[in-house]
Amino acid sequence: MSETSLAVAAKKYKAEVIRRKLASLGILKTSMKVYSDEGYVYFPVIRAPNPDELPELVTGDALVQETVFDRLASKPKTLKEALAGFLDEKLMELVPSSFDIIGNVAVLELDERLRPFASDIASALKLIHKHVDTVLLKAGPSTGDYRTRPYEVIAGSGNTLTEHREHGCRYRLDVREVFFTPRLSGERLRVASQVRPYECVADMFAGVGPFSITIAKMQPACKVYAFEINPAAFRFLEENIRLNRVSDRVTAIFGDVRENYRIIEKKADRLVMNLPFSAEKYLDVATRLAAPSGAIIHFYGFAKDENAVETVKANVGSIINSLGFSAEFLWAKELKEVAPRKFVVALDIAISAVSK
Ligand SMILES: C[S@@+](CC[C@H](N)C(=O)[O-])C[C@H]1O[C@@H](n2cnc3c(N)ncnc32)[C@H](O)[C@@H]1O
Repeated sequence: MSETSLAVAAKKYKAEVIRRKLASLGILKTSMKVYSDEGYVYFPVIRAPNPDELPELVTGDALVQETVFDRLASKPKTLKEALAGFLDEKLMELVPSSFDIIGNVAVLELDERLRPFASDIASALKLIHKHVDTVLLKAGPSTGDYRTRPYEVIAGSGNTLTEHREHGCRYRLDVREVFFTPRLSGERLRVASQVRPYECVADMFAGVGPFSITIAKMQPACKVYAFEINPAAFRFLEENIRLNRVSDRVTAIFGDVRENYRIIEKKADRLVMNLPFSAEKYLDVATRLAAPSGAIIHFYGFAKDENAVETVKANVGSIINSLGFSAEFLWAKELKEVAPRKFVVALDIAISAVSK
């Protein structure tokens, strides 16, 4: 099917430069197929750019006119579909098939070869996800105790304070100041659905509260203690506890869990240890938090080799045993590859003190 649209006709030798400018102005139409003849490439646009925005209109390298275009089959649903025709085949293969959306902030990871096209890719992303304002590019790994990472703003206002919704819960957070990943939403549901009435849960590395709050929402008759060391994350954790009306069930505790565990010593029926970078260093604290009759640990760890699950199990099992506890592995899964050949592994472990 064809349709007439306002178009920018770009002289062929300038077409790529002009396309990029139109893309960064956010006025390219993605529902139509770009058309070209011997002298010009015709880009369908939402509105005419003005000469300040596109100086090529003054030099005569670009014209605004009506043109007939073929309609693309349907609205693009993926980044690759939205970028069809804009990148050559080799670059197209590098376009990520997934990215994170946290509230109205999108977070992308790009191959270095796509770096010159970052703002085009961000514009395409904003066309698919209309509610996204700021688009961030990961500019380094998560580091330090707070597990935060550097980002570069590649589109939008640059505002990274947002509200994310997941499983009927609301999380206020600043993407730059705290750790948060929507990729663990399935894990939060899986863990929360195991919590039984009157359990005491210790969320040892709570962040802005997604495990604690999902648990408290799904199991109102439980008590959750949420430990967090990053002052910014702690502020959001307190705010999110109020926002989700679970203040009667969730207590936030600021500071290092190693310093503060005595608040609930020997009471936790269940522990969440979501600090893959160094959770094993806190297994001694976990055994002090755990109820003497036994507890379940939801443990997240990293491993670098092919047998990631077995490697983490062996390591964690021997640490728990050395602390005078037995460890029974109830469930295990390789969750995601966070870097080439580096995996996050999730384990559910039943521990109990070995009587001497
Ligand atoms: C990987 S993040 C996970 C956050 C949260 N559980 C989530 O799923 O979004 C780990 C969190 O633990 C916090 N943290 C790191 N070391 C800690 C410690 N010793 N005591 C308490 N919190 C800690 C970090 O600031 C960070 O917010």
